[in-house]
Amino acid sequence: MSIQDDKIKALVERRQSASKGGGDKRIEAQHAKGKLTARERLELLLDPGSFEEFDMFVRHRCTNFGMEAVHTDGDGVVTGQGTIGGRLVFVFAQDFTVNGGSLSKTMSEKICKIMDTAVKVGAPVIGLNDSGGARIQEGIDALAGYGEIFERNILCSGVIPQISMIMGPCAGGAVYSPALTDFTLMVDKTSYMFLTGPAVVKSVTGEEVTQEELGGANVHSTKSGVAHFSAESEEDAIAKIKKLLSFLPQNNLEEAPLRPTTDPINRAEDYLNSVIPDNPNKAYDMYGVINSIVDDGDFLEVHRNFARNIIVGFAHVGGRSVGVVANQPGVLAGVLDINASRKAARFVRFCDAFNIPLLTLVDVPGFLCGTQQEYGAIISNGAKLLYAYGEATVPKVTVTLRKSYGGAHIVMSCKQLRGDINYAWPSANIAVMGAEGAVGILYGKEIKAEPDPAKQAAIAEEKKSEYNELFCNPYQAAEKGYIEDVIEPRNTRFRVIRAFEVLAGKRQDIPAKKHDNMPL
Ligand code: HXC
Repeated sequence: MSIQDDKIKALVERRQSASKGGGDKRIEAQHAKGKLTARERLELLLDPGSFEEFDMFVRHRCTNFGMEAVHTDGDGVVTGQGTIGGRLVFVFAQDFTVNGGSLSKTMSEKICKIMDTAVKVGAPVIGLNDSGGARIQEGIDALAGYGEIFERNILCSGVIPQISMIMGPCAGGAVYSPALTDFTLMVDKTSYMFLTGPAVVKSVTGEEVTQEELGGANVHSTKSGVAHFSAESEEDAIAKIKKLLSFLPQNNLEEAPLRPTTDPINRAEDYLNSVIPDNPNKAYDMYGVINSIVDDGDFLEVHRNFARNIIVGFAHVGGRSVGVVANQPGVLAGVLDINASRKAARFVRFCDAFNIPLLTLVDVPGFLCGTQQEYGAIISNGAKLLYAYGEATVPKVTVTLRKSYGGAHIVMSCKQLRGDINYAWPSANIAVMGAEGAVGILYGKEIKAEPDPAKQAAIAEEKKSEYNELFCNPYQAAEKGYIEDVIEPRNTRFRVIRAFEVLAGKRQDIPAKKHDNMPL
């Protein structure tokens, strides 16, 4: 064997040893918790054979608490590049088998390096989080490492898609990196996120709570909205992220890839002509409407279980990737509240940042009223959605199906917020409010002054039908040019696809400024 052969053999052995992370015992422990290792996860996530690892031989530089004697090549994170569906991505996967995936300064340098490269070449970053947080033995160096990552999360925001997968613990200030990224996915039962764990919570507030109750996938995908997706297993998580990526462009200068479809662009859906119930207080299934408009009924919902009174997600129409925002009459009558406004605003901003056109389906009775909403700042939160639509320069196509009342009408991508093509179904009511409320305000005193209850009811009915005749239809808006056309519901798919085709070359600017000051 030549000297060169020896050297190559040594390299191979060192690689093999590095790829074992914290060693067989810790890998077994990881599997026993129902979790894959960092490298196993990357193998499933990336196209076979596409992964190229960076910095496999990087070691920590800590000399406290005997750490100088304990070294693992690569330290507690696996980083590199690969492809998903043939498209370049950059990845980092924290390796819990090495010091619990806790973040050392060198680990942060590895993560920052791939973020810097990703933003330079314009490709998404996917972070797989499974870590005990700042490496305690490194003190302030570990904190500085987090600071470096957060700063890059901020600088990459709106330039390349950033996706966080939470596959284990993510606690303390470490949660702020996922929070700064575009999408966070949590794996049910094996991942959790919180600023302070159950023990600290108990000592500070006396509250007894489990990890799952405090920051499990269920909590963050239903109550807080921190997680955009939850997955049943790691395999399911990886499948979901692959699907998400298929709707996204590589960066803010590109468009999302076209997806050829055999679904006819002029497919008429007779069912849509009868989907709106005669009774305006009756709900119907908005998912059915979305699925019948988009290509192949394929809709990837974001935030499925959070603020369910509004639906947001990705689909293709005529092969083009679009962001869909739709009020959901089946939940709280589709009213806009704090969480629905926050949820939709963030989604609209993501789509606008990444050149994904917006399809908005409107059936909204207004904003939710009451002290809870006012004290929680529905004013500022509702303004987020208003702001997001108003600043968005991507093609915006809006279809009003039924109710579109008051402030909520303005917020939901109306013409005056630079909506490009606004259609309405014949069942649309575009008005300041519904007939019931309007008659109460305008004629309440007159009605009460009438001693005979039967006559009271008759006056109310007469006034309501007068109001309905005048306002509860799409034609007042159409007559004034506030909508482009009243369309037959069955033709919605074709009209929407054609509208986006027409708008494909849209260019629109916002005035030059350092940055905006949206109502956060
Ligand atoms: C150094 C750590 C570590 C850490 C875990 N380990 N967390 N080493 N720094 N932060 C090590 C353990 O010593 C152990 O080493 C191995 O990782 C596995 O940990 P276990 O405790 O055996 O695993 P498990 O029982 O599954 O518990 C996992 C855990 C727990 C819940 C994450 O380890 C834990 O509570 N860790 C501390 C979490 C924490 O408070 N972190 C600081 C948060 S504050 P051996 O050698 O025995 O295998 C923070 C600030 C960020 O992160 C600020 C950003 C601005």
